[in-house]
Amino acid sequence: MAITGTELNVAKEFLIKGELVAIPTETVYGLAGNALNEKAVLSIFEVKNRPAFDPLIIHTDSVEKVKEYVSDFPEKAQRLAEHFWPGPLTLLLPKKQIIPDLVTSGLDTVAVRIPKHPMLLDLLASLTFPLAAPSANPFGYISPTNAGHVNQQLGDKIPYILDGGECEVGIESTIIGFEGTDTIVYRLGGLAIEDIENVAGPVILMPHSSSDPKAPGMLKSHYAPRKPLYLQRKNDISGENSELTGYLLFDRYLEGVDRKYQRVLSPTGDMKEAAHHLFAYLRELDTLPVTTIQAEWVPMTGLGLAINDRLQRASATK
Ligand code: TXA
Ligand code: MG
Repeated sequence: MAITGTELNVAKEFLIKGELVAIPTETVYGLAGNALNEKAVLSIFEVKNRPAFDPLIIHTDSVEKVKEYVSDFPEKAQRLAEHFWPGPLTLLLPKKQIIPDLVTSGLDTVAVRIPKHPMLLDLLASLTFPLAAPSANPFGYISPTNAGHVNQQLGDKIPYILDGGECEVGIESTIIGFEGTDTIVYRLGGLAIEDIENVAGPVILMPHSSSDPKAPGMLKSHYAPRKPLYLQRKNDISGENSELTGYLLFDRYLEGVDRKYQRVLSPTGDMKEAAHHLFAYLRELDTLPVTTIQAEWVPMTGLGLAINDRLQRASATK
């Protein structure tokens, strides 16, 4: 996608005025505002209908800038940053006072990330403040992976959507924090655990706590479509009731079911491709004339862990 100065300038002007702009990232679209401006941050919560106890991630374009916002940057965190930034990695680090409490919901850590999207990196480089940006969906619904998704749900509530095409990764960033010598994964996301462990050594997975103040946003009802979604093991899924059911499948179509009711995440079984398609296909199934969605677990390798995490949170049988 060609980057035109005009689009970036329009986005920049709104952000400087304290208004919100939807931004493309490599993971999902974000609903962005000046993280240092409390009024802008407050309107993020309002537009998303998000509870104030659920803190936001701040986005910037360089490690030098990150250091202006955090009071400590442990060696292990630096190693992860060197390997995975720009990219789908969010680090929880002790915050400096310049970051409003509203951003962190009163926690003493701030979530920071350098995203990998050329248009957004240009925008961030031109700004003197970081962007607070949750996913650009109403609270609890599926995250948007293209500008059209954002427009459908928030189009009338924000002045501008910066269109950077389809999100390459398709699921949110992996969130990592540090406790003593432990490296803790609080949200499974766009980085495979194997890749993280190659850089940082063994990690502890703590992704499911809906009541844990460390990751207050990890509510089980996240990422839900409007139709009930039922999750099954791969070989248990059958094509009965096909008129009323939409199917989200890993790598092959079901025999005897009209293909218009089926979405296959990756015909070659490629986890990156599957993650890339996940949210867009869930949305498509949600708009079909069916009453329920049946999905199957994907294999637990690479991004499969994060995909299954999202499917479980989207499912009606939690
Ligand atoms: O890929 C992403 O991370 C996308 C794009 C836009 O960058 N953003 C995103 O933001 O997914 P959001 O707000 O939908 O999810 C942020 C998550 C929430 O679950 C929140 O609870 C957690 O990050 N979080 C933020 N700050 C935190 C903190 N200080 N401690 C623990 N969890 C935190
Ligand atoms: Mg979100």
